Amino acid sequence: MSDSDTRKSRVGRGQPAPRTGDRRSGSERRTHAAAPSKSERRTHQRRTGRDRRSETGWQLVEIVQTVIEDEGQDSLLLAAAADARTRAHAQYSNFRVGAALETPDGRIISGCNIENATFGLTLCAERVALVKALSDGEAVFTRIAVVADTEAPTPPCGPCRQLLWEYCGDIDIILGNLDGPTARYRLSALLPLPFDRRLLG
Ligand code: THU
Repeated sequence: MSDSDTRKSRVGRGQPAPRTGDRRSGSERRTHAAAPSKSERRTHQRRTGRDRRSETGWQLVEIVQTVIEDEGQDSLLLAAAADARTRAHAQYSNFRVGAALETPDGRIISGCNIENATFGLTLCAERVALVKALSDGEAVFTRIAVVADTEAPTPPCGPCRQLLWEYCGDIDIILGNLDGPTARYRLSALLPLPFDRRLLG
């Protein structure tokens, strides 16, 4: 048995990672699989804030993801997002993103990310699509597609999730790249405990 086999079997090869609220990566968990050596104890003390949160009641959130099987339904929206992406102003990150929102009557409003020299004022593609649609008088939305040129899906960032929740409700989020769809989520799966107007009393 090789050294790496030994390491793998210690953490239970072939078994899913325990979902116990432990947000550490697989390699960080392995550090604690056996009795910690002196240097491992030092590693333990150097844990990040993210790791410490797991000891104060933070739980892993189960993300519900459906792998896209029927591309046909979403292809128009993804194509609109991919087209908007070509107009991205991503001169600082070079990470070009396009988004496309759909209304119940089939109207599609798209947006791209728009960056600027202060970085912090960057507008995400999702937010651009949303404010365009709202200022056009649209108020009800069914789905949004987000496209980037990456193998892994590009989900909306936290602030965009908040705005999408407030203005679109629990819509479907279709993620894709230049080859087609990569994943689909309900917004409630990405923002499981939202703050919204209901909590304002
Ligand atoms: N970005 C988006 O437009 N949408 C996302 O869902 C993720 C990130 C943009 C913001 C910034 O211009 C660039 O991608 C890198 O973060």
